[in-house]
Amino acid sequence: METGKLLYEGKAKKMYETSDPDILLIEYKNSLTAFNAQKKAEMEGKGRYNTLISAWLFSYLAEKGIPSHFLKRLDDTHQLVKKVQILPIEVVVRNITTGTLCRRLGVTEGMKLPRPLVEFYLKDDALGDPLITEDHALLFGWAKQDEIDSIKRTSLAVNEILQDLFLSKGIVLVDFKLEFGRDSSGNVLLADEISPDTCRFWDSQTGKSLDKDRFRKDLGDVLGAYREIWKRLSGKEE
Ligand code: ADP
Ligand code: TMP
Repeated sequence: METGKLLYEGKAKKMYETSDPDILLIEYKNSLTAFNAQKKAEMEGKGRYNTLISAWLFSYLAEKGIPSHFLKRLDDTHQLVKKVQILPIEVVVRNITTGTLCRRLGVTEGMKLPRPLVEFYLKDDALGDPLITEDHALLFGWAKQDEIDSIKRTSLAVNEILQDLFLSKGIVLVDFKLEFGRDSSGNVLLADEISPDTCRFWDSQTGKSLDKDRFRKDLGDVLGAYREIWKRLSGKEE
């Protein structure tokens, strides 16, 4: 498949057209950003780990009955995906309190929640991705009721599957962000990526952060954390 025009360059990925109008090529970049790109860095190898990890997780979810936009990994930094119209909503699922939840509401850090918390944020960098309610999404036309129902159902199912998977690898899935889009038939499909950029992972034994929090909080050895997640999933050293 031939790579076509660059459609969009984001903070972590580039999206290219292909010869098939329904298929996009994703290129994962080595850029790391945090706090709405106020903090930036380049890290050789990061794009490769996110490509490998995200492809692995989307394939695993497909085996467990959760379809997504993911079609195929081409090489270390490229994937083919179904083109969707991304809903302007970022869905965050939380199992343990941390991050902006604690900063926003003043609740204690590291509390295990009695059940998963599902939050919606408006996907709008200029506004700093504000927290929104379901009613905002409905009233302003960002998603329809049946889409919201399906997004919530899928997000909770992804949480159950990934919590079990990561626990079996000695990792606690603390929280994560998902994106969804409409495919050419109007069906809502899980999209974007699932990686240490978009999830919080804590080592079950030591509590060590194995995700982008190492970059956000200047904890050091960011790439080592991404490598460790890939190693625990795939059994591969590199
Ligand atoms: P950002 O836009 O936040 O800087 P990225 O650098 O990850 O993020 O850019 C990837 C962009 O592509 C995101 O805006 C994401 O919503 C979008 N996207 C992800 N999957 C698809 C898809 N299957 N079809 C169309 N757009 C997608
Ligand atoms: P938060 O505590 O900073 O709101 O993050 C919650 C989860 O969402 C965490 O796993 C990181 C992920 N996330 C993204 O993937 N992209 C973002 O822009 C933000 C703010 C969080």
